[in-house]
Amino acid sequence: MFSTTWKSTALMLPSLLFWLSGDVVQARRVAASTCPAPVPASYPAPVVRDGYEARLVATGLKKPRGVIVDSKGRLLVVEAGKGITHMTIKDDGWPCLSVEKTTTLVSMTDLNHGIELSVDGKTLYASTSNSVYSWAYDADAVRVSDEKSPKTLISNMTNVGGGHSTRTLLISRKQPGILLVSRGSGSNIDNGATDHSSGISQIRAFDISDPNLGTPGGGKVYDYPSEGWTIGWGLRNSVGVAEEPNTGGIYSVENSADGIKRFGVDIHEDSPGEEMNYHGILRFPSSSPSSSNVSSSPDQGQQQGGNHGYPYCLALCNSSLPFPSLNTLKTGSQFTHDSTPYSIPYLSSSDSSDTSSPQAKPINITTSDTSCSSANFIPPRLTFPAHTAPLDIKFSHGNDNQSLAYISFHGSWDRSTPAGYKLCAVLFDTSKGEPVEASDSTNSLVDVMWNRDVSKCPEECFRPVGLAVDGEERIWMTDDDKGDVWVLKQVGEVKGDGDGNGNDFGSGSANGDSDSAAAPMRAKRSGSGAEWLGVGTSVVGAVTVSVLFGVL
Ligand SMILES: *[C@@H]1O[C@H](CO)[C@@H](O)[C@H](O)[C@H]1NC(C)=O
Ligand SMILES: *[C@@H]1O[C@H](CO)[C@@H](O)[C@H](O)[C@H]1NC(C)=O
Ligand SMILES: *[C@@H]1O[C@H](CO)[C@@H](O)[C@H](O)[C@H]1NC(C)=O
Ligand SMILES: *[C@@H]1O[C@H](CO)[C@@H](O)[C@H](O)[C@H]1NC(C)=O
Ligand SMILES: *[C@@H]1O[C@H](CO)[C@@H](O)[C@H](O)[C@H]1NC(C)=O
Repeated sequence: MFSTTWKSTALMLPSLLFWLSGDVVQARRVAASTCPAPVPASYPAPVVRDGYEARLVATGLKKPRGVIVDSKGRLLVVEAGKGITHMTIKDDGWPCLSVEKTTTLVSMTDLNHGIELSVDGKTLYASTSNSVYSWAYDADAVRVSDEKSPKTLISNMTNVGGGHSTRTLLISRKQPGILLVSRGSGSNIDNGATDHSSGISQIRAFDISDPNLGTPGGGKVYDYPSEGWTIGWGLRNSVGVAEEPNTGGIYSVENSADGIKRFGVDIHEDSPGEEMNYHGILRFPSSSPSSSNVSSSPDQGQQQGGNHGYPYCLALCNSSLPFPSLNTLKTGSQFTHDSTPYSIPYLSSSDSSDTSSPQAKPINITTSDTSCSSANFIPPRLTFPAHTAPLDIKFSHGNDNQSLAYISFHGSWDRSTPAGYKLCAVLFDTSKGEPVEASDSTNSLVDVMWNRDVSKCPEECFRPVGLAVDGEERIWMTDDDKGDVWVLKQVGEVKGDGDGNGNDFGSGSANGDSDSAAAPMRAKRSGSGAEWLGVGTSVVGAVTVSVLFGVL
């Protein structure tokens, strides 16, 4: 058994340092004082892409979900059903990172996912299924004011009958006074989402720049369904929301529907695709007091606040797979899944530049493939394989000033063969602020870290949830299933799939020889894959030892 071997070997050789690189567990002999013992994984070691290294830094957490990095480089992790945990990281140079101290910052059992910090780092936000709360946060003292009585800023987000419960939070870096809140549906196919005033399956934005907002304190509390303004709707459960750092475009990743039939034919194994949606550059309705902040940047021609199709229009993720009545549908097209056409009042997208205002007009739409491809519904910018469950998206420029969107795929339950259970990256065009791949691509994802045998998932697999990119472009990743926190870093040249498509990493050709590129900390593996030659500057004079375990 792999994990047993790993643990017992670690005990026998306490001065060996273990981390993951490529498809081997690497071990490097270092002075014990310079590098803390690694945290052993409880399942077979995952695989990381060449050019990345990964290290498990913490285990034993209770359902770790959202994670952010504070102004001092400490981690704040939402443990669902427990609260917010502060972790001080001891950094002895990559990969010698370990948790030095763990502090419960907020005990609050109904916090379940969403967490965010103001741009100045002094206000902490977190969400329950119903509300968004805030605390004054002192990063030096590691404390919040009034832990037991936070301010309530936004309320009325509970889905009747349960359903999706996370409420992802995002503070715009371009408009620091704006908080985006994403709310999913109450059920798999929630017809309430067709009623804009329900607030169901929407991403909404709120001006939180007024310090007197919130109660206790006598300030205003926003009513989620009726206040703020719409960034996008018709979004089944867009758990990951991010702002592209170059242009400020808002992107989200959506968990699409389960158990779907099309005209009576079961298509649930491979359809619908999960989605990456684009919501334009953050702008304000003309009625907003902050309308002077309206961006005049190029916006890929997209209006904000439009409907993305759920519950009646879903996306095709691979037009090469068998699909009933494919007709002219392409990968990324939206299709109808119902055998009987419905007439549903939607707000016309063409009127929806400000859907929070009463002048947006409802129209009756009979759902069909034709109406799903009309201008009333915004198709996804990218589609991903069905049921892979994207839960977070975070941008990073990596080592090479590329624009990368890391996406965590929690993994499937609604298909016979597990899918997802991995961390991927989507390459963005830095100047355009959009993915390099076209919207009909089946090939936009580059795997960064994955499980060796996905057929053993979820039991013997990591299940990534929250992502945070710190000031050194390290990627922190939670796993709510195993209770773990991982950290990854680009340490060398990262090569793409080598398929010559636009999603390949690296400045040179995808198939290029990594030796020809100059990378200061490039780690180079010999042909056998067993030797680790490029030693990071922080591990001076280390004796290189390579250990292969089990099925590696
Ligand atoms: C609008 O822009 C001003 C100046 O950049 C900034 O101080 C203010 O916080 C912004 N308002 C919001 C709501 O983001
Ligand atoms: C929440 O909804 C209830 C019922 O519609 C309403 O009475 C209450 O004022 C709302 N809360 C806020 C903060 O607007
Ligand atoms: C799309 O479907 C085709 C046909 O089954 C398959 O060969 C291909 O690998 C699929 N592409 C992806 C990205 O899943
Ligand atoms: C939509 O159709 C319903 C049922 O036929 C009708 O009552 C309603 O007036 C229509 N709404 C619009 C905006 O046309
Ligand atoms: C990345 O871009 C920044 C800002 O343009 C620049 O200062 C830095 O040197 C670049 N780094 C690399 C590795 O190209």
